[in-house]
Amino acid sequence: MEDLNRVKPRVEKLRAEINRHNYLYYVLDSPEISDAEYDDLMRELKELEAKYPQFLTPDSPTQRVGAAPVAAFGVIEHPLPLLSLGNAFDKDELISWYNRTAKLLGKAQFDLVCEHKIDGLAVALTYVDRQLTTGATRGDGFRGEDVTQNLRTIRSIPLSVPREAPPRFEVRGEVFLPRAGFHKLNQERAAEGQPLFANPRNAAAGSVRQLDPRITAKRPLDIYIYALGYAEGKATPSSHWESMKYLKSLGFKVNPNNRHFGRIEQVEDYYHSWEKEKECLPYEADGIVVKVDSLEWQDSLGSVGHEPRWAIAYKFPAVQGTTRLVDIGISVGRTGTLNPYAILEPVAVGGVTIKQAALHNEDDIRRKDIRIGDTVIVQRAGEVIPEVVAPVKSKRSGKEKEFFLLEKIYDKDKKRPACPECRAEVFRPEGEVMYYCSNAACPTQVQQRLEHFTSRGAMDIRGIGESQSAMLLKEGLVKDIADLYYLKDKKDVLLKRERLAEKSVSNMLSAIEKSKDRPLDRLIFALGIRHVGDEMAEILAGEFHSLDKLADASREQLTSIPTVGPKIADSIIAFFRQEANRDIIKRLKAAGVRLEEKAVRPKEQSLAGMEFVITGRLEGFSRAEAEARVKALGGTTGSSVSQKTTYLVVGADPGSKLARARELGTKQLTEAEFLHLLETAK
Ligand code: IVH
Repeated sequence: MEDLNRVKPRVEKLRAEINRHNYLYYVLDSPEISDAEYDDLMRELKELEAKYPQFLTPDSPTQRVGAAPVAAFGVIEHPLPLLSLGNAFDKDELISWYNRTAKLLGKAQFDLVCEHKIDGLAVALTYVDRQLTTGATRGDGFRGEDVTQNLRTIRSIPLSVPREAPPRFEVRGEVFLPRAGFHKLNQERAAEGQPLFANPRNAAAGSVRQLDPRITAKRPLDIYIYALGYAEGKATPSSHWESMKYLKSLGFKVNPNNRHFGRIEQVEDYYHSWEKEKECLPYEADGIVVKVDSLEWQDSLGSVGHEPRWAIAYKFPAVQGTTRLVDIGISVGRTGTLNPYAILEPVAVGGVTIKQAALHNEDDIRRKDIRIGDTVIVQRAGEVIPEVVAPVKSKRSGKEKEFFLLEKIYDKDKKRPACPECRAEVFRPEGEVMYYCSNAACPTQVQQRLEHFTSRGAMDIRGIGESQSAMLLKEGLVKDIADLYYLKDKKDVLLKRERLAEKSVSNMLSAIEKSKDRPLDRLIFALGIRHVGDEMAEILAGEFHSLDKLADASREQLTSIPTVGPKIADSIIAFFRQEANRDIIKRLKAAGVRLEEKAVRPKEQSLAGMEFVITGRLEGFSRAEAEARVKALGGTTGSSVSQKTTYLVVGADPGSKLARARELGTKQLTEAEFLHLLETAK
């Protein structure tokens, strides 16, 4: 056992380091270390905390994930209502808001702050004694939902604030899903046949309002703080602009694109420049928010109903265009899904030429009544890949054709529908919206599986991307993902490949070597099991701790996990039943890929129902630490011996509690026995 006196400072140092890197990465967007170095710090801290739960604190960076799911959210009353905003759709409406406000204030001119109106979800965060205590949704403005556990998973929300912060205060902000995250989430949902999120706002709300915080933790949510709600016990700035600077100094993430202006013409310029540039932003903004800067004047202006008089949303026009749907193509995904996509007559939408757009699945096409030859509305709203919104039915000539996937992929020679890539049979599992190619060796699927396996969120093998995967397959150097780990035996062949220099080969091989030690959830995700995304992979890793155990899990075992339904369970079982997959796993193991979780987690509730009372001085830890350790394992502690007491822990120079325990016949533990109990409870 390490020296306890050395563990504590190490834990504290790691925590401070990780918090600093979180801040640099998530708040300032300027990381100083690589993801791998960060993962190493995090792993060391997690291991120490698992081993020494007495040093675990609720504001530890490890505590952003893992809270248990809840049946329903509690209700939080907002001490100050959360308002919404009135809208201006053009310059005239903006100017009339400005004139109205000027008149009410009795000023010809006043300072304004302009911010992006981010398409997300409003939340209120309360900090008491430097700690984040509650996080709530807006709800009806007066009462919101208690989503504290979920908001804690957002890395740009500080769990604690510096000493200078007021003893009690509330900040407000917009939680959002950046474009890339929104897009990825919808792609996954489309592949799983789940309904798609219509916009980033719904996606953010859907992610925050998850009953299982582990799912929220997997979504790349972010936040910009846009107001100081209230503050008690300390003076705070008197203008909105200054209070944003103040909140920034406390570690909150404030949008760097906010601006402070003295004239309404500058607001106009701000609006127009962002209307042009908004597609370059990593998040979706549907307009700007214009706010009166002076907080005193905000107060005196007040609100009408839910809408403050001191602010207005000046909305951007939507980025849509119309064009002709020339045809519907089919691409093959890595799990074999046959994905329909729109082939369009090229059209410029918001400055970008669009030729293709997502169509998700056949049911969706039918529901929207989209036909080949239709004039369609296409939209780029927070989507990297544009989307077909709806047909313009009034423009129909009568010649438009309905789309039938099976007809589209009908193979005349084989006299049946066939995979457009490998011509194998296709099937549609009961209750699912997608059709699949039945051939696990379909070259397009294999290539996509290889790309997925090596991708960043999976095994993160740098140096093997699209072109390298294609080359390795084409040259017959790999036939499946396990072959990657045997490439080192083929170094000579690799070196002979044109354009592959010694350096890039050794980089590739060392990246492959490094990936052997990835966490189990990454490996499970990387295998590309149908319906098992990164979120599900983490849940499965947390339940089984080993790939072999997962592979042997029964349907009952799988479906007893709250978030695993029969569809997912069947897909996992089918995956591990396939001989080819079993063989891949065997070869991964033989190559030394880690198939188990590294840190052994304590069985958290193993002291549940036991009450411990401590008397006398303990050598190994302070009273508080001993109590924390009992609590971390689900036990309780008491200050006096009673019938309820399970054990009395007896240290040096025990007090009267020992006599009482003897009277009641309470079991006694020496410090060594106590320690042994804690250790073996893991
Ligand atoms: S201020 C009056 N600032 O827009 C105070 N809101 O339609 C209202 N929003 O519920 C909030 N970005 O969710 C403010 N920079 C920003 C915002 C913003 C997005 C949202 C917020 C609010 C909704 C009002």
